[in-house]
Amino acid sequence: MALLAYQIRVNGIDAQPDLDPGLPAIHGDPHQLQQAILNLVTNALHALGETGRPGRIVLRTSRRGADHVQFEVEDDGPGIPEQIRTRIFDPFFTTKGRARARDWACPSSTGSSRPTAGASKCIPPATAGPSSG
Ligand SMILES: Nc1ncnc2c1ncn2[C@@H]1O[C@H](COP(=O)(O)OP(=O)(O)OP(=O)(O)O)[C@@H](O)[C@H]1O
Ligand SMILES: [Mg+2]
Repeated sequence: MALLAYQIRVNGIDAQPDLDPGLPAIHGDPHQLQQAILNLVTNALHALGETGRPGRIVLRTSRRGADHVQFEVEDDGPGIPEQIRTRIFDPFFTTKGRARARDWACPSSTGSSRPTAGASKCIPPATAGPSSG
C-alpha cells in the first residue's frame, strides 16, 4: 500500500486493512504477490476514480480451509459489469484505452472473482507454510 499511498491520499480514498493476525507463513514469490495486489488496488483506484466521489478500499486476509489463505481487495465502486465478468481473467482483456491499460496480463492475479457490492477479485489461495504453532 505504501507504493500507492500518494494516489490513495490525493484521491481522498479510505484504505482499510482487515488482516487476520493468525495466518501462517505462506509459500509464494513475494514480488509476484506484490504485483498481483498492486494490480487489484490499481483497478480499484481506477474504478473509484470514475465515480467522482472518495470511496473505500478494504484489503482483507483470511484463512481458507486448513492449508490456504485468501487475500481480497474490495472497493465500493460500481462493481465489475455483469457482461464482462467472464472475460476479466483473459490475458490482455481491458475496457480501458491504451493510455491507461498496461496491456500485459498478470497471471498471478487470476483466480476466483467474488463481485459483491463494489468489486473484489481474489488471487488464488496461496499454500500455507508449516504452521508456526
Ligand atoms: N475493482 C473494479 N471495479 C470495477 N471494474 C473493474 C474492477 N477491476 C477490474 N474491473 C474491470 O475489469 C476490466 C479488466 O481488468 P484488468 O485488470 O484485467 O485490465 P485493465 O485494468 O483494464 O488493464 P490492465 O490491468 O492491464 O492495466 C477493467 O478494464 C474494468 O473494466
Ligand atoms: Mg487492471
